[in-house]
Amino acid sequence: MGMYYVPEVSEGVFWVGAKDWNRRIFDALIPLPYGTTYNAYLVKGKEKIALIDTVNPGFEKELVDKISQITDLASLDYVIMNHAEPDHAAAIPHIMQMGENVTLVTTEKGAKMAQVYYNVPEDRIKTVNDGDTIELGGKTLKFIEAPWLHWPETMFTYLVENRVLFSCDFFGTHTAFGLYDEDVEEILSSAKRYFGEIMMPFRNMGRKALDKIKELEIEIIAPSHGPIYKNPDRVLEAYRKWTAGETEEKAIVVYISMWNSTEAMIKTMVETLMSESIEVSLHDLSRADIGEIARDLVDSRAIVLGTPTVLGGMHPLAIYASYLVRALRPPLKYGVVLSSYGWSGGAIKQALEVLGPTKIELVGSFEINGPPSNEDFQKIVEIGKQLSSKIKG
Ligand SMILES: Cc1cc2nc3c(=O)[nH]c(=O)nc-3n(C[C@H](O)[C@H](O)[C@H](O)COP(=O)(O)O)c2cc1C
Ligand SMILES: [Fe+2]
Ligand SMILES: [Fe+2]
Repeated sequence: MGMYYVPEVSEGVFWVGAKDWNRRIFDALIPLPYGTTYNAYLVKGKEKIALIDTVNPGFEKELVDKISQITDLASLDYVIMNHAEPDHAAAIPHIMQMGENVTLVTTEKGAKMAQVYYNVPEDRIKTVNDGDTIELGGKTLKFIEAPWLHWPETMFTYLVENRVLFSCDFFGTHTAFGLYDEDVEEILSSAKRYFGEIMMPFRNMGRKALDKIKELEIEIIAPSHGPIYKNPDRVLEAYRKWTAGETEEKAIVVYISMWNSTEAMIKTMVETLMSESIEVSLHDLSRADIGEIARDLVDSRAIVLGTPTVLGGMHPLAIYASYLVRALRPPLKYGVVLSSYGWSGGAIKQALEVLGPTKIELVGSFEINGPPSNEDFQKIVEIGKQLSSKIKG
């Protein structure tokens, strides 16, 4: 018995990952209210042993100690690199240095990245293609190319005999809580937030990957962040919807206001949408969690953006939010922009520039001088009703 908890999550498959309870930001961008995990798995066959993915910098020793509770590092044969991003691959050089017989297994693109990012010598890398397998003795690892989930080199690894899919970032959740899906309340909400942040821009590639794994019998999905799915059906169905871009009768409202004029416009819009039975989620950009915005973008059909004019354009936080909406490529269909200005305006023009390249159909834009008048409120109600009828199709 060692000091670490190294659960056997499927026969001969051990979780040797790390929990980063206190991490609060990812990619220098995404807030992590519940921390995160870096899942790594040790697969023990009768003849050979493979490690699937590793951990974030700073957790190398923990990983090695956990592996050592199951096996001597000298007897490790393979490290499977499903993804080259440092949260899963940074510990690879450490493992390969300690385990002298270890071969790195990855895609062709992954092989190049392993050399560039981690200085792995070419002669210690085995490149695999879609459908290739490696025998561990009673355990077969099958590799499934799944590019752009979430970098170009990504793949899944399927453990045939156990019917376990190691999907790396795909199906991930940023949380340190729980080991299995059943341990975490509201798991799908957290999974959706993660999907919005990480996978939404690659929805098409996600659809292709889902198609590829459709024929597989999957008993367990073991991603590289967050809980392991013992009941994969729910998350598979959610991913089918999210990658297909299926939206709800729902509007996401993001706004910023310095002196409450834009805010008053937004409030009237929200009341109108609610009176038309549209589900609304509201985010004040001065205190918004962009992870929640990303989550709500996954299935909202419309967006309402509110911003005053500041120095001839949008408020900087509204520029940030609009740019994020453009970059994350949500399945939004309709949009409305509301704005208040003091002397010459300019916010709406910039909003339309930033959002121009998206497929969002502009249902209305309304720019007023100073605080809204009664007529202005009437006009907003009108735009809100138009937007509602578009949303309801
Ligand atoms: C820092 C700052 C910069 C501003 N720059 C502009 C501007 O360039 N052009 C303009 O028409 N109004 C400008 N305004 C005026 C606001 O757009 C105006 O007061 C508006 O009604 C504020 O809306 P809000 O109450 O939603 O914050 C500026 C106001 C502030 C505080
Ligand atoms: Fe990643
Ligand atoms: Fe990751």
